[in-house]
Order: sequence, then structure tokens, then C-alpha cells
Amino acid sequence: MCGIIAYVGPRQAYPVLIKGLHRLEYRGYDSAGICLMNKNLNIYKCKGKVSDLEKHVKGEDIGGTLGMAHTRWATHGEPNEVNAHPHFSQDKSLAVIHNGIIENYATLRSELKNRGYKFVSDTDTEVLAHLIYDILKHEKVKLEEAVRIALNHVIGAYAIVVLSKDNPDKIVAARKGSPMVIGVGEDEYFVASDATPIIEYTNNVIFMNDEEIAVIERDRPIQIRTVRNQKKTPYVQKMEMSLTAIEKGGFDHFMLKEIYEQPRSLRDSMRGRLLVNQGVINLGGIKEYEQKLLNAKRIIITACGTSWHAGLVGEYLIEDLARIPVEVEYSSEFRYRNPILYEDDIIIAISQSGETADTLAAIELAKSKGATVLGICNVVGSSIARATHAGVYTHAGPEIGVASTKAFTAQVAILTMMALKIAGSKGTIPRSKFQRYLTELEAIPDKVEKILTLDDQIKEIAEIYKDVKNSIYLGRGYNLPVAYEGALKLKEISYIHAEGYPAAEMKHGPIALIDEQMPVVVIATKNGTYDKVISNIMEVKARHGKIIAVVTEGDEQVRALADHCIEIPETEDFLVPLIATVPLQLLSYHIAVMRHCNVDQPRNLAKSVTVE
Ligand code: AGP
Ligand code: GLU
Repeated sequence: MCGIIAYVGPRQAYPVLIKGLHRLEYRGYDSAGICLMNKNLNIYKCKGKVSDLEKHVKGEDIGGTLGMAHTRWATHGEPNEVNAHPHFSQDKSLAVIHNGIIENYATLRSELKNRGYKFVSDTDTEVLAHLIYDILKHEKVKLEEAVRIALNHVIGAYAIVVLSKDNPDKIVAARKGSPMVIGVGEDEYFVASDATPIIEYTNNVIFMNDEEIAVIERDRPIQIRTVRNQKKTPYVQKMEMSLTAIEKGGFDHFMLKEIYEQPRSLRDSMRGRLLVNQGVINLGGIKEYEQKLLNAKRIIITACGTSWHAGLVGEYLIEDLARIPVEVEYSSEFRYRNPILYEDDIIIAISQSGETADTLAAIELAKSKGATVLGICNVVGSSIARATHAGVYTHAGPEIGVASTKAFTAQVAILTMMALKIAGSKGTIPRSKFQRYLTELEAIPDKVEKILTLDDQIKEIAEIYKDVKNSIYLGRGYNLPVAYEGALKLKEISYIHAEGYPAAEMKHGPIALIDEQMPVVVIATKNGTYDKVISNIMEVKARHGKIIAVVTEGDEQVRALADHCIEIPETEDFLVPLIATVPLQLLSYHIAVMRHCNVDQPRNLAKSVTVE
């Protein structure tokens, strides 16, 4: 995601826009740009943060009382000056900023190229500038009508602002799938991704709905129409939020916000890739390596921390569904143990930040031995994204909380699509099952939404166990990486020692730790080893351990045994990690808050470990 802002009114636009970008920077910060209407559309943009943009415009004409600005979180096209927003039409009479993903940008781009338009950037957004211009030129319609017609050709998510040199007092803004708020001042208007940049000027706001287009003109009432040309009455409401609260979207911490963002981030990770109606999975970023992946004799996954846990899910997925041998390596070990690699090995490097030093080094080692390296990263243009031969971005949006949550489930979603794609192409799962799996995967974000409604129950459990000294997390099969991830979440934000363990391994030592002071979290969803997990639960109970069980909805058997049961919706066994992790994220979050820990920036940690 990224941050957009626009202004029209009596003030100088530049300071309003820059200050607004600073407030929106948590939404994305790889490049920034601004467009000011001052006889012409003056655009200034650069790679880097908003502070870099402020340096970049020194000495330039930054006058004007109408303008827009953008802080980018790249999805298509490296973070650099050319790809930064705003994007011009060819004759520089029109400019666009955009938050979202235009899924059919490639088709639109080739159509516009055939009509003679020259593209300067690699972004999906630029197609909007040329498309709106093309309609304006040929249909001889008003700017807002050209925008409306253009958006009827667009598939995907957008929050856009369009300015035109020939309409110096007009802002056209539209949204679908990405957020947009309009601030209504005495004699001025603001448009932004959220209320953060608006609230210091006015608390009268219009929350735009999907597929609405707003025409905002100096000293005139706002008009709103839908992309289907139905007139809508603008609904202005008073917003009572504090500024700090809004930066976190009303949540107390970025981590909680990001846990709650998972339905959206999962949808974004699958957007344009999981095409259920067509019965295909389309991973454009690794298209040219598809055959290599299908023919791979071995896949090695290298990562650190939470990303390593996602890699472990990947191992179970790819071996179970696609029948290709997989090894999962800690990058820090892989890079130093002189591993045996073959040229037909496929390495998958997983990293949220794309800057983890050990993973980067592991990639260089693998490439030096001739292996093909694919990346799964969340930050476009990051070092790891650029070091790999190809890759798939997770599109989870900026993850600010040091403890990874939405990035983990997005990584698992990408690995799930990869495993299914290989399995579908190799025929290692029957076609009917393949189609059923796609449908079930598409339903996962809704199931996560349902789990988030259990937050109060989970908070009550946290209250009981917030002062324990140790904890063990148990799982089998696909739920083992979930146990590891749940334990990591607890220890890294609450500083309680927690271990993830294969449930069957308890009796080989750790069971000596069990007593009534030791909460044991068991992921006990209905799967092939369910009965075995029941026995493990009995072993713990026999030693007075406390059981917190994550179970499939309606499970009465575990409910009769456990001290606490968190019921999650039923799904295919291989999809459980995508949903069973969420209650464990919430459990850790609430315990950490109750222990007054710094949840977003835990002691001793950093969001990206760029050192060895
Ligand atoms: C996860 O909550 C931690 N912040 C940490 O383990 C993290 O997953 C690890 O440092 C890897 O980071 P990366 O995904 O950015 O490479
Ligand atoms: N897809 C657009 C780009 O990559 C906008 C990205 C965003 O919303 O952050 O420039």
C-alpha cells in the first residue's frame, strides 16, 4: 500500500501536502513525489523518503494552492525516481497518483502502446495517465467523465487522484479496494488515504465508498458519482479520533493493526494470481522459471526466523502436494556449512524485509554454485529481491511491527500457490481436487476474519497466563511450523521463554518440564494425526499441565480435555497454517501488552537484521 494526499483551498498546498506525506509515511516509504498546480503541473519526485523529497525540491517552484502528493510502497516497478508517483500523461497535461494494484495493467499497456503511447515507467499506475488522456482526447468529455470511463476498463484496486492542467481548480478522486477519505474544511478540501493528514485541519470527513468518484472544486460543493454514473449524496460525518490513534488505524499498536489487516493482505497476496473461475494460478514473477521448478529434483528453502517457519510450511506443502523433495535451511547455517548444491537445484529465499544479511549471503553462495534462486519478499526492489533470479512479491504492505504477522501468512499464501501450481501442472493431485483446493484457498481470508472475532476470548486466556515463566507449543505435520511460529511470537514480544516442539517429541525429554505452571499450547485441528495429538494432550494432563488448544470448530473431544479451546473454521489440512497462526498471534500480543512490553519494538530486536 502507499499514501496519497491532495489539497485545494486558500493555503499554499506544498506544506500541507508534505506534512501529510510524513503522517502517511508508515503506509509506504520507498519513494515519494508531489504535483503542484501553478499555471502548469509541476511534478517533483525521487527515490527515498519524504525527507529526501523535501531536499529534492529545494530551489524549485513549489507555489500553488492546489496539488497532490504520494509516498510509495512499490508493487510494480523498482523504487526509483521514474517509477515514483505522480505519473504524467504523454503531453504532461494530466497527472495521476495511485494506491493499489491494476491487475490488467499489462493488457492496457499493450493496447495503449499500440495506440502510440510511450511509457517511461515500469509501474501499473502509468497506464491510468495515458488511458484517461486518451479518452479525454477522443471522447471530448469532462475530466471526471474521462476518469469514470477509464475506471470501467480497470480491474484491480485503486485510490487515485487525477489533476489536469486544463482544470486548474479541480481534483478528481476515486477509490475501489484501497482507502480514501475526503476532509471538508470551511473553504478547503483534503483527500487522503486515511484521516491522519486531515484531522489537524478539520474533523468533517467523507469516507468514500468503493467505485465512487468525487469531483472536488475550489469553492464549490463536492459531487460524487459511481463508476456506473449514479449520482450519490456526499455524507459528511464528524470524526472523533485522536491523531496518534489514527496513524495506527485506531489500533493501540502496529502489530495489532497488522494482525487485523491479514484478511486484506491475504487477498492482496492472491490478487491477480489465484484465478479460481479459470482454475489457474498465475505467478507472473517466476513465469520464465516455471519449467525449471516443475522439473526440479530438489528445492532448498533458505530463510531466518519467522520466514524460516514459513519455509517449513513450504516444505510440507511442496512435498505433500507437488512431490518434490524439499530441504529447509537456516540461512545462517546454510551459508557456512559448505552445502552440496547442484545446478538443477532450485533455491527459494524467503524474506519480509528483503535485507536479511544471512539470507542474502545464502543466495550469493547458491548462485556461485550455479543454482537457480527464486525470492519471496515483501519489499519491492529490496536487496534480496534484486539478488534473486526471479521471485514473487507478497504484497502484504508495509509491516511496521517488529514481530512479523501479516508477512508470515502472506509468505505461506505464496508458498501454497506455488505448491498447488506445481501439483496442478504435474498432475500430482487430481483436477477435481485441484479445483476444490483453489476454492478453499480463496475462502481463507474470510476464515481469518471469523477468527479475529475470537479476540476477546483470546484476551481472557492471555489474562490467565500473562505471568508464566515458560510455555511449550505443540503441533504435528502442517501444524508443527505453526507451533514454532506461535512460540517465537510469544518469546519475542512478551519475553516469556517458549518452545515449539513436535507433539510426539514431548515424551523424549520435554515432558519432564510439565507441571501446573506450564501452559501447553496445542494445535489440535482435525487431521490425519488428530488421535495421536489427543494422546499427547492426555500425557500432558496426566502431569497437571494446562492445555490451551487450537481446535477445529465443533470439536467436543478436545474440549473435554483442554483447559481452553480456541475454535477455528474447518479447512483443508494444508491450509490450516494460514488460519491457526492468527489466534497465536493474538495470544502473544495480549500477553505482551498485559506485561507492559514494547510490542511494536521489543527489546534487543530490529525489524530487519542486516548484520550477521
Ligand atoms: C519475526 O517476528 C522476527 N522479527 C524475525 O524472526 C524475522 O522473521 C527474521 O529476522 C527474518 O526477517 P526477514 O523475513 O525480513 O528476512
Ligand atoms: N501499484 C502502484 C505502484 O507500484 C502503487 C503501489 C502502492 O499502492 O503502494 O507504484
